[in-house]
Amino acid sequence: MGNSVEAKRRIIKTSDEDLVRQLDYQIEENKKNSTLTCDEWPVYGSLIRSYEIDFRAVTGFRSISGFVRRRPAPVVIDLMSPSDTLADLFMKFPDKPKLGIAHSYCDRRNKERLDRDEKLGIKQLSGDILELETWEKIEKTLNGKKADLIMERALRGKHYITSDIRIHAVLLNKAWKLLSSDNGMLLAEIPNPRFDPLLNEKKITLSNWASFIKEKNVDVNFNLITLRLIKTPNSPEKLPFLE
Ligand SMILES: C[S@@+](CC[C@H](N)C(=O)[O-])C[C@H]1O[C@@H](n2cnc3c(N)ncnc32)[C@H](O)[C@@H]1O
Repeated sequence: MGNSVEAKRRIIKTSDEDLVRQLDYQIEENKKNSTLTCDEWPVYGSLIRSYEIDFRAVTGFRSISGFVRRRPAPVVIDLMSPSDTLADLFMKFPDKPKLGIAHSYCDRRNKERLDRDEKLGIKQLSGDILELETWEKIEKTLNGKKADLIMERALRGKHYITSDIRIHAVLLNKAWKLLSSDNGMLLAEIPNPRFDPLLNEKKITLSNWASFIKEKNVDVNFNLITLRLIKTPNSPEKLPFLE
């Protein structure tokens, strides 16, 4: 297994053997079941409105479309998602120059959707979010730009990225790095640290992590399973975590 995983390159450099084992196992499992996994993910067709409802506790009921409308040339990333939600969002701003990147395990678009995305400035990327290559593809597509908005509403997709909170922290940091420091907003579904034995032992909660990052100039809002972060010029490039 060592070699094949080495070739894929993990999203994290760590000497923690347990973390490496989990990550490698999940990548291998996803690959092994990829036909099944891809069949399980049809095109969802979720409207941006359904994201607005799911994230309302952390956005304070403010509309995501309104946030994007205020950007002159919005750059938006939707992680672990087919391109339909971005398409619904971008159709509201036909005259704006825009770049959308949807990323999911497989690209299941038909010709009609390919044409629609082409017109709307949306790229659909595919690959395992646990592999470095996926993040390199996203960065390459951004072509030096930073994202005004990054969303991740994986729903059942979360079962394919392990429940280990440390892996979620790495993924969050990867997304954070791609975010604009001009009040860029990151909206993510997250596992609650309350259910993580390691964090429980260390008494790390979402609430004390939020206080910690607020002190470091990261604007944060959270509820049980959703998170909203805002990045400003004073925010750190690397998202701080409690040890
Ligand atoms: C339930 S769908 C959610 C789609 C969309 N966010 C929505 O709310 O309509 C889950 C998505 O996660 C993606 N996914 C699952 N495992 C993944 C992985 N390991 N890497 C990247 N994407 C993954 C699937 O391809 C699928 O698009």
